[in-house]
Amino acid sequence: MDRNLALEMVRVTEAAAIASAQWMGLGNEHAADQAAVDAMRTALNDMDIAGRVVIGEGERDEAPMLYIGEEVGRGNGPQIDIALDPLEGTTLTATGAANALAVIAIAERGNFLNAPDTYMKKLAVGPEAKGAIDITKSPTENLVSIARAKKCKVEELTVMILDRPRHEDIIAEVRKSGARIKLLTDGDVSGAIATCSLRHTADVLMGTGGAPEGVIAAAALKCLGGDFQGQLVFRTESEKSRAQKMGITDFDRIYQRDELAKGDVMFAATGVTDGDYLKGVTFQGGGASTHSIIMRSATGTVRYIDAIHRALKKPGRTAATK
Ligand code: FBP
Repeated sequence: MDRNLALEMVRVTEAAAIASAQWMGLGNEHAADQAAVDAMRTALNDMDIAGRVVIGEGERDEAPMLYIGEEVGRGNGPQIDIALDPLEGTTLTATGAANALAVIAIAERGNFLNAPDTYMKKLAVGPEAKGAIDITKSPTENLVSIARAKKCKVEELTVMILDRPRHEDIIAEVRKSGARIKLLTDGDVSGAIATCSLRHTADVLMGTGGAPEGVIAAAALKCLGGDFQGQLVFRTESEKSRAQKMGITDFDRIYQRDELAKGDVMFAATGVTDGDYLKGVTFQGGGASTHSIIMRSATGTVRYIDAIHRALKKPGRTAATK
């Protein structure tokens, strides 16, 4: 994959972030999401790639745009697979809460797990704790191992967990261990990335969230040198049969980071609302400013791009950048 693709991709996440951020706090999740999807799709179709959406908005019959299998781009460039979430954190955006992102990851054909729209049990850490996690072990055992790897006390660790009733037991156990907790209302991709923050805003993400988001997070952590393990969680037989259709045969399999995102991957994200890792979009004088991260696993280069968009193509709630 041409390294310049990474820089092209940031335009895609910037466009989605600017479009959805205009809906921040307006209580309309659907409009915020749709604005992000439209803008991301338009920007992708403007790229010289033969792209195929692998992780997208849903299956073809339920998502008209950026559905799994949709071909995007002008068709005249490299053949790549795309894992995307135009708006990761629709509720966060609709309520103006922290950590909503526009995200995209790309890899060569066949290198992302075709994850069904089920849940995934996840364990993510930053580079210092790479190799120190085991999703089959208890939260306490993992925290002890992570603390050892980071040469700190368990009490100094901060654990990100989605605030859901299904996590009651994990939350209770982590509290008992002495580690600090940041409960996330939504947005576990952002939570996973935060484990790699140089400001040590978080050390580990634990718990169950969306499986597609798991693949995206694995791609991001691969670029950042962190670690990720995931195991699909099925709620119904129909989820299992959907997974089977996507080629999954071992329902209990534990996926390592590089099995979810194989080979060289590139990842880009733009903050929609302010977050633990990236600042959100602000608007002024008919323009917007964005904060993005772009990374390549091949070199481990991490670039932060602060952009000022002086002119929006169509000012107003459907705007995309020029
Ligand atoms: P959306 O952007 O689709 O709303 O997803 C947000 C999110 O919080 C993800 O970050 C997370 O993986 C998933 O939803 C958790 O699902 P649930 O809300 O069903 O617990």
